[in-house]
Amino acid sequence: MTTRLLFVCLGNICRSPSAENIMNHLIQRRQLADQVMCDSAGTASYHVGSAPDRRMAQAAKAQGIELVGRARQFVAADFGRFDYILAMDRQNYRDIVALDPTGQHHDRVRLMCEFCRTHPDQEVPDPYYGGVEGFNYVISLLQDACEGLLDHLLDQPVTT
Ligand code: 4NP
Repeated sequence: MTTRLLFVCLGNICRSPSAENIMNHLIQRRQLADQVMCDSAGTASYHVGSAPDRRMAQAAKAQGIELVGRARQFVAADFGRFDYILAMDRQNYRDIVALDPTGQHHDRVRLMCEFCRTHPDQEVPDPYYGGVEGFNYVISLLQDACEGLLDHLLDQPVTT
C-alpha cells in the first residue's frame, strides 16, 4: 500500500515544495517509490501556477535538491486523497482544519516539526520576507523533519 503525503504552507512556493522535493529525494535514494508518494499545496491562492521561489530553489540546489512543481491551493477534497497532511506552521494547521468542520479528518493533519529529531523548532518559519540564511535554515529543518517522517512511516505496521 502506498502512503500519500501532502505538505502544506501558505503560498506553496517556498516551504512545502521544498518538503515535497526533499522527501522525493529521500524516497529515490532509499528506493521507496512504490511505498510513499508526495505532493504539496498552499492554503492561499496568490501564487497558484507559480514555480518555486528562486531564493528557495537556490538554497535547495546548494544541498543537491532541485525544486520542481507548480503552486496549487489546498482544497477540502485533499482530505480524502492523502494519509498525512503536514502543516508547516500553526496558522497553516488552523487554516487546513477550518476546511474540515466536522473534524472527521482531523487526525490526518500534523505539524511537520513533530517529526524533527535534531532541531528544536515547533514550526517551519516563513522565509519569504527574510534573508538568505532563512532559506538555508528551512532546508536544513526540512531535511531533519523529512528523515524523521520517513522513518516514522517505515515503522508503521503494514495494513492491507
Ligand atoms: P511559503 O512562503 O508559504 O513557504 O510558500 C510564502 C510565500 C509567499 C508569501 C508568504 C509566504 N506571500 O506573502 O506572498
